[in-house]
Amino acid sequence: MGFQDKLISWYQVNKRDLPWRRTNDAYTIWLSEVILQQTRVEQGMPYFYRFLEAYPTVNDFAAASEQEVLRLWQGLGYYSRGRNMHFTARQVAGSPGANFPQKHEDLLKLKGVGAYTAAAVASFSANEAVPVVDGNVYRVLARVFGIHTPINSTAGKKIFAELASQLLDRHRPGLYNQAIMEFGALQCKPVSPNCGVCPLRDECYAFRNAEVKMLPVKIRK
Ligand code: ADE
Repeated sequence: MGFQDKLISWYQVNKRDLPWRRTNDAYTIWLSEVILQQTRVEQGMPYFYRFLEAYPTVNDFAAASEQEVLRLWQGLGYYSRGRNMHFTARQVAGSPGANFPQKHEDLLKLKGVGAYTAAAVASFSANEAVPVVDGNVYRVLARVFGIHTPINSTAGKKIFAELASQLLDRHRPGLYNQAIMEFGALQCKPVSPNCGVCPLRDECYAFRNAEVKMLPVKIRK
């Protein structure tokens, strides 16, 4: 089995049942991804439900006042995320058709939507073949492939982005992206990863070389 198949097989067995994984709706996925940007799943979950109930569509979100949005956001921190969401909702609601974008390049034009969020929404909602590269992905790739270039250096960002693009399962990009992120979150954890039961241990550079604790490398800036 190749790298992609091993990750996807692992994912089918071990994945968490998370509400934003049961939809293809770009707006709903965007909502979940922005909430989860600097927030743990357990903490973000109630906010995801709260926002979806208050604003089932992007038009409902756009019709709210910024004050109301920030009130719902209370407790999540990084309030610019809430403000950017409100701005984006109004931008989308005011666009022709008022449909939430699904294409990676269109998503990148939205305020507060960076490469990661655009890739997540495009691949999860429309199966567009763009790789997600978040902290989980950095960690899995650095360990499995033995990459010592710092993940937060210019050279590192380029190397990891290229590798992530090569590895992306072009037939199942959405599924593969979910799988590698979940693998990083649950299996290839920052501290005490479950190497004992890892489907990639035989091919994992870090495991074979006892470098799991050293990878990924991050430089202090
Ligand atoms: N963190 C950020 N995005 C996520 C997702 N789609 N599933 C689980 N955790 C996440």
